[in-house]
Amino acid sequence: MKSIAKLLSIISMVSLAAPCLVNASPQSDLKEFQEYFLKRFPDVKLDGFADGMYALSKERREEWLAMEEFPPYEPGLAIGKQLFEKYKIGECFKQGGIGIRQHYPYFDVVSGKIKNLEGEILECLQKKGVDLEKEKFDAVKGKTAAISAYMAYTSRGKKFNITIPDDPRALAAYERGKHHFWSKRGQLNFACADCHLRASGQLIRSNLLSAALGHGTGFPVYRKTWEAEDTSSNSALAGFGTLHRRYEGCNEQVRAKKFKAQSDEYMALELYESYMSTGVPISGPSIRE
Ligand code: HEC
Repeated sequence: MKSIAKLLSIISMVSLAAPCLVNASPQSDLKEFQEYFLKRFPDVKLDGFADGMYALSKERREEWLAMEEFPPYEPGLAIGKQLFEKYKIGECFKQGGIGIRQHYPYFDVVSGKIKNLEGEILECLQKKGVDLEKEKFDAVKGKTAAISAYMAYTSRGKKFNITIPDDPRALAAYERGKHHFWSKRGQLNFACADCHLRASGQLIRSNLLSAALGHGTGFPVYRKTWEAEDTSSNSALAGFGTLHRRYEGCNEQVRAKKFKAQSDEYMALELYESYMSTGVPISGPSIRE
């Protein structure tokens, strides 16, 4: 309990004026959101936020860069490429699926739904007659995350280019994601904004909190913690996880109900966080603690 009390005191100490995001357009939200972080971290340029928490601490950054020299995700990335080719995933995407990660997620005006990259990979496999369950395609890890990692890899350096169409359904989805981000939840009563905006750059239980600006750009990621959890048959894929896998963990940390990966709720959250990161370059796959 000590750590929770400490955590709460950190949050209350840093409850500085946060951007007021009520009744604003996505465009004005975006401006205010990015200005907040650029002002809070004057040494970090917009591009730098692609590196998550490692943008915010010199020491941590050096350790991380050393890991990136021999990235533990490399074998999994190679498998991602093989799977991408084996299942001819490129046929389902524009530009053969190469260099397009920065356009995901998007609001699809035809179906009235948000689409993200993992969702479209799974749809593509199904279209090709693959039995997802039988062939063990999980939405948040393993083979699906590896294919997504490969597609992100071909988009490295391209700036997140998320648009919210002027459609009431798209705006409603955006508002839902924004609401999730700013609302207190769970037994610990924390909003995403408490940790990743108001306390960004601070330590919480020895974890450095990333800025929400840039969230999504490094995903899928490889984490040692996830590697230990994954007992998948292919060990090269252990440790990979999508953004929704991270959302599940962050909801659970505050003892809140987690939603299902690919649920409308997480899709809306992904849309909001990605839109807020417009202009930050894709850096996935990336290593995270
Ligand atoms: C109690 C604090 C806390 C809350 C509340 C919280 N998170 Fe996190 N989150 C963390 C910690 C700690 C990490 C790991 C360090 C880091 O990357 O920020 C993390 C990591 C992340 C990452 C990975 C960032 C990256 O680049 O690797 C994302 C994305 C994220 N959180 C989103 C969310 C969202 C969305 C919410 C609200 C549903 C949320 N978090 C709520 C503590 C929190």
